[in-house]
Amino acid sequence: MVSYKDLGLVNTRDMFAKAVKGGYAIPAYNFNNMEQMQAIIQACVETKSPVILQVSRGARDYANINILRNMARGVVEYAHELGCDIPIVLHLDHGDSFETCKDCIDNGFSSVMIDGSSLPYEKNVEVTRKVVEYAHQFDVTVEGELGVLAGIEDEVASEVTHYTRPEEVEDFVSKTGVDSLAISIGTSHGANKFKPEQCTRNADGILIPPPLRFDILKEIEVKLPGFPIVLHGSSSVPQEYVKMINEHGGKLKDSVGIPEEQLREAAKSAVCKINIDSDGRLAMTGTIRRIFDEQPSVFDPRKYLGPARDALKEMYMHKNIDVLGSAGHALD
Ligand code: G3H
Ligand code: 13P
Ligand code: ZN
Repeated sequence: MVSYKDLGLVNTRDMFAKAVKGGYAIPAYNFNNMEQMQAIIQACVETKSPVILQVSRGARDYANINILRNMARGVVEYAHELGCDIPIVLHLDHGDSFETCKDCIDNGFSSVMIDGSSLPYEKNVEVTRKVVEYAHQFDVTVEGELGVLAGIEDEVASEVTHYTRPEEVEDFVSKTGVDSLAISIGTSHGANKFKPEQCTRNADGILIPPPLRFDILKEIEVKLPGFPIVLHGSSSVPQEYVKMINEHGGKLKDSVGIPEEQLREAAKSAVCKINIDSDGRLAMTGTIRRIFDEQPSVFDPRKYLGPARDALKEMYMHKNIDVLGSAGHALD
């Protein structure tokens, strides 16, 4: 059993309380490799932002849990070396079972998500409560989910959105004891969040998505005053990177994300954790494709992974400062 406390990590409790009060959201950036991790930490240290390092089950299989834990330990020291001891959480994204969550808790994660959102309500309550009972013994915080996002969450795919039902949230939170709740108000996973027929097009032919259901979010806030809410599927799908990918041999079509203004609005509410994965993939892929195309003789990975890391860092800094509002809150 490895405790996250021995790795210099923190759980989400204080972080979320401050974010809800302060009207900003903590970035939860997914990562799979060293360059992504370095970019996240560099951006968050430079903007003095707390951060959640998020590991999907796919990332765990890809990178190995022992390596991930030691990378997290390493970046705690790296942040210190860069000059700011920002609070860092290591979080399991979309845990699918009690066993997966337990394994992460036993291996130094400070926060886990148990995603029972595709189960019948009572089964979701049951598995979530079981994870909470185990996690809280070690002061690990737990995120649950009600409502289903369209798109792919690890291997679970849903064609359609099932919005969170505000009438269920109080019962779910009190029966399970979760520390935060992921909700479904119209975001979805991936780089194609909406079908073209759900969107309108602006004068430049860019797809404009339907607005998020802030009415549902408000109802949830009334039912659970001050309770930490989580927004998944919150990539903005920057069109500059979609364009870069397509100009250099890629084939992305009808890629559309959540407009930054809507994420900014959400961050000012009880939404205190915003999950972003796809945007990191786009920035990295766009940059690497551009370099391969423009400099075909390059074969040193540092020559393309380094610039990809710089692009990621710049994008995360922008999000912390202009979208989530987490910049400057590391030492609150
Ligand atoms: O929940 C969504 C994640 O972006 C999925 O990431 O492809 O590593 O499973 P993955
Ligand atoms: P995106 O696909 O919008 O980046 O969402 C990521 C996410 O919700 C991870 O849990
Ligand atoms: Zn998600």
